[in-house]
Amino acid sequence: MISIDVIVGLQWGDEGKGKIVHAMADKYDVVARFQGGPNAGHTIYVNDRKIILHHLPSGIVSSCSYNIVGSGMVVDPSTLIEEIKALQSVVPDVSDRLYLSYRAVLIMPTHTLLDRASERAKGDSCVGSTQRGIAPSYMDKTGRNALRIIDILRSDFESMYRRLKTKHLKLLKVYDAEDLIESLDSMEDKWFEAIEFMRSLHFVNEPYLWEKLDNVSVLAEGAQGTMLDIQWGTYPYVTSSNTISGSVSVGLGVSPKHIRKVIGITKAYTTRVGNGPFPTEMPEEIANVIRQRGGEYGSTTGRPRRCGWLDLVALKYATIINGVDELVITKTDVLTNFKPLKVAIDYDLNGRRIKEVIPYLEQVKPIYQDIEPWQSVSFKDKNFASFIDIIEGYLSVPVTMVSYGPRKEQIIKVKAKGTMAY
Ligand code: IMP
Repeated sequence: MISIDVIVGLQWGDEGKGKIVHAMADKYDVVARFQGGPNAGHTIYVNDRKIILHHLPSGIVSSCSYNIVGSGMVVDPSTLIEEIKALQSVVPDVSDRLYLSYRAVLIMPTHTLLDRASERAKGDSCVGSTQRGIAPSYMDKTGRNALRIIDILRSDFESMYRRLKTKHLKLLKVYDAEDLIESLDSMEDKWFEAIEFMRSLHFVNEPYLWEKLDNVSVLAEGAQGTMLDIQWGTYPYVTSSNTISGSVSVGLGVSPKHIRKVIGITKAYTTRVGNGPFPTEMPEEIANVIRQRGGEYGSTTGRPRRCGWLDLVALKYATIINGVDELVITKTDVLTNFKPLKVAIDYDLNGRRIKEVIPYLEQVKPIYQDIEPWQSVSFKDKNFASFIDIIEGYLSVPVTMVSYGPRKEQIIKVKAKGTMAY
């Protein structure tokens, strides 16, 4: 029997999912990524060394035997190989415990160029993409043109590659972006070298792995966050995959019947990288303090993150969509002694008070409740306990972990409301 626990981001990504997966991974046989690609940057600390994972499941630094790059992902071979090589000094057996799904889609160098060209063409209304080729590669997937990992084992792989590249070059012309092609030769050299290396790795046809493994426990590691979901996020300012828990079934070839629980991750405040609506965004002078305290800079792009207050309306929406069973609140230390402190409890839509995430979220203004600042992240601090109570009460979901620093040990596990287990 397979049982799957799912970790999902409930905001606009960067909730600290990597750290939580890292903290939990030892209890699972398998850790698997089911969507997204190198747009993700999951930060973990191993023996004081900071590691940022883009494709690799965060379980790779723990003891779990199978780490799966699932079929719902898009994979850039050049970044993947860099990641593997960088990790080898810390985790020598990284390639032994890594499995690439045959069906995951390859991000080609021209996808990266198309991403840049498309963003450039959109001008001020650009999404603010990470420019890792995510949207163009998912477009080729849904357009039924993409190359998949299985294809690198075919003898006609290079001609398949050339055919698709020719199409991309025509598109770049349409974008008037031929200047971007300058860097293509060196990108391709690196890419084909990486493809050669990839041929030596393990592959997986997921449904049969689930069949083969008996009584297996799987931790499915989401990337990005619910509000960036292609369907349910703040469209069109979203990523190109389904980031929600329902995506696990599609992205890992497993029946939804096997999902045991969904663990939603939220920061104690909110951040967003890139453009798009963000109702609780703070004035820059407050955002700047949070950004410095919380190190709020993109782990993939280094861009400063936009910062805002916790948005309980958006969080409630995310808990409904994902079916969240347990909540983990991260970065609580960043708000210690922070004043003023508030959370959004309603939206104002043209003078009407609503509790709904609407398709054009830029139309709403948040209505806040003030929060008394806490002096320490501890349930003995009544203001901290009350902050957690407010969140649990609003969402009707228990908080089971509170994280207060980047290292995996910096977690308070909560047994029942306000009771510390450790
Ligand atoms: P893309 O996924 O690179 O196409 O970017 C689309 C939007 O999602 C942009 O606003 C990005 O900043 C955002 N985004 C993509 N991946 C992440 C992530 O891992 N964390 C936070 N934001 C992300």
